[in-house]
Amino acid sequence: MRILVTGGLGFIGSHTVVELANQNHEIIIVDNLYNSKIEVLESLEKITGKKFKFYQYDIADKTKVESIFSENKIDAVIHFAGYKAVGESVQKPLMYYSNNLRSTLNLLEVMKEHGVNKLIFSSSATVYGDQGVRKYTEDMGRGTTTNPYGTTKAMIEKILEDVYTADNSWNITILRYFNPVGAHESGLIGDNPNGIPNNLMPYVMRVASGKLECLSVFGNDYQTVDGTGVRDYIHVVDLAKGHVKAIENAPDGLNVYNLGSGKGISVLELVNCFEQINGVKVNYKIVGRRPGDVAENYADPTKAWNELGWKTEKTLEDICKDAWNFEKNN
Ligand code: WQD
Repeated sequence: MRILVTGGLGFIGSHTVVELANQNHEIIIVDNLYNSKIEVLESLEKITGKKFKFYQYDIADKTKVESIFSENKIDAVIHFAGYKAVGESVQKPLMYYSNNLRSTLNLLEVMKEHGVNKLIFSSSATVYGDQGVRKYTEDMGRGTTTNPYGTTKAMIEKILEDVYTADNSWNITILRYFNPVGAHESGLIGDNPNGIPNNLMPYVMRVASGKLECLSVFGNDYQTVDGTGVRDYIHVVDLAKGHVKAIENAPDGLNVYNLGSGKGISVLELVNCFEQINGVKVNYKIVGRRPGDVAENYADPTKAWNELGWKTEKTLEDICKDAWNFEKNN
């Protein structure tokens, strides 16, 4: 298939391009480089041995989206592009609503104009909110989101539901990621956020490599295995393969799938594993809880296995090893 990957130079987008290329799909990448680097394109060519048509466009500009579809016969779209920093979204809600919603609406309108009806949407477990449970299944529906970033994901899911209700010739697959971490084994691509990382794993990597002094563990008084927050960490290569399975196997219509390991890991369990696997020390201190955090959440990934034939294969040890390998290489 000829697939347009929006945000294709980003953390998850770039790893998905690799797995799609491995399955001989033809890929077109659009990325505005707001939270990614042009060097990733060269890394993708090195890893896959293939060249990719690349547009450095902002898809919040509809004329740019139209030119991509006019110049290429596209079979399907995987839509990653969007701002995704929780903290930044609280400070700049208008920027998040304007960019994330406008780019999606542009994409949907132009896809419809060009008769392209197959879409995979990059959503997030954050849309579940805190429903007072630990394990989440797709039929639980969306909860109350705690930040504008999460709210844009929930809003876009609702937009997709309404678009499908009005015209069920669409084939829409919504993938709810839990916590994407790790890196490709080559060490050429990985999670390299601009500035000080919001997320745990990139922060741990930078403390281990001395770029940052000390990890703040946000609370150890939760009702969890060791008091620290518990999440479902999924290797980004497993996550990328989930997109390949989705684009090849998803049933017609509108479908939602959790992409997670189905296991909960605490902050300290992850830190300890990182230290042991890599023989490095991660300095940390316990501080107060971070507002908006839930104590524990992880996926029930059964539906993705039953309907897509996908489940995670990599371990927490693989995650820690591959993440550290990327950090050392960059
Ligand atoms: C994980 C755990 C923190 C940083 C968010 C978004 C989600 C997705 C992934 C984009 C929690 C603790 C963290 C630190 C810490 N985003 N922590 N010290 O909040 O589960 O999910 O990022 O795709 O949509 O909601 O991820 O990595 O920020 O936190 O103690 O410096 O690590 O309290 O328990 P989160 P996270």
